[in-house]
Amino acid sequence: MQYFSGRFKEKADKLILDFHSSIGFDQRLYKYDILGSIAHVKGLAKGNIISQEEKNLIEKTLIEILDDIENGKIKFSIAYEDIHMNIEKILIDRIGDVGKKLHTGRSRNDQVALDMKLFAKDEVKIIQSFLIELLDEIKILGEENLKTYMPGFTHLQKAQPISFSHYILAYGEMFKRDFLRLENAFELMNYSPLGAAALGGTTYPIDREYTASLLGFKGPTLNSLDSVSDRDYLIEIMSSLSLLIMHLSKFSEDLIIYSSNEFNYIEISDGFSTGSSIMPQKKNPDAAELIRGKTGRVYGNLMGLLTTMKGLPLGYNKDMQEDKEAFFDSVDTIKGCLKVFIGMVKTLKINKDILLLACKEGFINATDVADYLTIKGLSFRDAYKITGEIVKYSIENKLTLDTLSITEYKKFSPYFFEDVYKYISIENCVEKRLSFGGTASKNIKIQLDELTLFLKRA
Ligand code: ARG
Repeated sequence: MQYFSGRFKEKADKLILDFHSSIGFDQRLYKYDILGSIAHVKGLAKGNIISQEEKNLIEKTLIEILDDIENGKIKFSIAYEDIHMNIEKILIDRIGDVGKKLHTGRSRNDQVALDMKLFAKDEVKIIQSFLIELLDEIKILGEENLKTYMPGFTHLQKAQPISFSHYILAYGEMFKRDFLRLENAFELMNYSPLGAAALGGTTYPIDREYTASLLGFKGPTLNSLDSVSDRDYLIEIMSSLSLLIMHLSKFSEDLIIYSSNEFNYIEISDGFSTGSSIMPQKKNPDAAELIRGKTGRVYGNLMGLLTTMKGLPLGYNKDMQEDKEAFFDSVDTIKGCLKVFIGMVKTLKINKDILLLACKEGFINATDVADYLTIKGLSFRDAYKITGEIVKYSIENKLTLDTLSITEYKKFSPYFFEDVYKYISIENCVEKRLSFGGTASKNIKIQLDELTLFLKRA
């Protein structure tokens, strides 16, 4: 290997080349590597470390190399280990000695940190734009379903009636927070490591403010040793992505359960379902299952990198090369899942009649019967006990709280009157939950307004 030729007597073994080369996967950083190098040569020229002509030639050639890579004209080599040295080698092959000046005042340590930051910043923006698309769909479903009533669950047992809007906007809140977590991660990492060099900075008069601003950062990182030693910015994004896919996975689980024959609350469109090779009647929610399944690898990537980083002595260590495949896989997985998920939500069919019917079984208005007695003057605990007895009686006699006669009600308490039926109607149960954040449409409208504002600002 020509790069280390001064210090090394023997050629690197093919085995070790294969083992430590990252070009197989870090070549996808080529654009960021070139953008970083262009900013760096501009910095070198500004500090009079290289001449304007040299800068121009290097910049022009780097842009040509970028073009050639994009047009598939370049073959990288594991002999040059990674994307940084491959591009530098190509540059030197094309312009000779001037090309050798590119790496002045720079190390692969600040270079790789820079490339990964530039890449990560772009990926965060792309993932955020998918989240906005998903939130747009959630908003539409929220607006359309204020009066679609459904059972809300605890322990997967029917609990209380809610509106479908309330249900879907709950996920809206989760995705809003996912968006903001990524925003925070972006802001925290938005400082350029370029110029940190190997670890201690450089003796060359490089204006780091200038190169940072050329690359769209808020400024340069404050401590050169920190700049090359940590990968917390990647871990923080991967942790935000883990939470995001946890939400997608929970949502997928709902879709799988709700689309089952037993529930039939919703239907996943044919386009996002698959059949069975043997059972002709089957329509399987494979896409939702796969999203649920891929959660494991996104968590795994996070745990992997956390573990890689935890015991490293301060400074660059080759272990850190392991950040790439983990991070690439996490962002690719998330983008793939979000694309499919958005399509699935867009084409979701909601079986409103079945949802309403489901509210009529399972005594989901029992809390409201207890509330009714409480309003009439009983303590909530007494009302709760009486209602429990009524539910037991109704189960034994195959009745529901709506079909129990008033004479039967009165056997349990003299506080019951005809108005109990209206009070415990599903619509009333939903619409009187007026406490802030509750399921009444008055509150849902506030949530929708907030979501509209959020989408406008995002
Ligand atoms: N391929 C390396 C990585 O991904 C680049 C940095 C190498 N730096 C070094 N001092 N060996 O981490």
